[in-house]
Amino acid sequence: MKKIVVLSGAGVSAESGLKTFRDNDGLWNNYRIEEVATPEAWEDDMELVLDFYNQRRKQLYEVEPNPAHFALARLEEKFDVDVITQNVDDLHERAGSKKVLHLHGELKKVRSTRDPKLVYVLDGWELKNGDTCELGSQLRPHIVWFGEMVPNMLPASEIASLAEIFIVVGTSLQVYPAAGLLRYVRPEAEKYLIDPNAHDFSYIPNLKFIRDKAGVAVPILVDNLMKTLDK
Ligand code: OAD
Repeated sequence: MKKIVVLSGAGVSAESGLKTFRDNDGLWNNYRIEEVATPEAWEDDMELVLDFYNQRRKQLYEVEPNPAHFALARLEEKFDVDVITQNVDDLHERAGSKKVLHLHGELKKVRSTRDPKLVYVLDGWELKNGDTCELGSQLRPHIVWFGEMVPNMLPASEIASLAEIFIVVGTSLQVYPAAGLLRYVRPEAEKYLIDPNAHDFSYIPNLKFIRDKAGVAVPILVDNLMKTLDK
């Protein structure tokens, strides 16, 4: 089976009702990264950080995957598909994608502040000051904050290097190291960038721009890719 690798960002979940980060009404217009998404923020004001991620988690329980997530899951009928996502939501999984690698963590999970290997699925949306791991230490969101290592970058780069078709959808490609994954993709691989406001990445070989919303453009691209196998 031909190998397709998808790199997704907040834009793929926008039509489900989750805000992106850097669009005009994005999350980073209403919050400062330094106040809610760094280890220093956790040290300075744990309640604010907990509240920020509790609100995100609560909202996640209220939304559903959209046609872009479902179309990407459908690709698996005919291709070997890996989804590498910067998103902390679980909408790819809920749509049916089987191989999803989260670069920036997962909202529904929490982990020990003493032993990062102790990761749990949170029961419900609210993580509270005083909720502890089995060692008695405070639990924190299972999120990669700015300034922290991205542990899944190594497997992600290996997966990207195997792509025969690479689909980038709904990411501003502004946050590294995730944005650097394109460098691992072979020059001869077909590449698609789906984003209504895609920046100019014309220096990347074989890159086709699809300047439309994910919910519209992804199902069309998926249908076209499936049809190429019928010929
Ligand atoms: P951004 O908010 O930076 O970019 C979202 C992209 O989605 C923009 O390029 C939009 O044009 C595009 N977009 C908006 N609506 C869309 C739609 N309906 N269909 C397709 N594209 C659409 O989000 P990311 O690139 O995902 O990290 O941000 C990367 C990381 O920065 C996030 O994972 C998060 C954030 O800070 C952490 O919190 C660690």
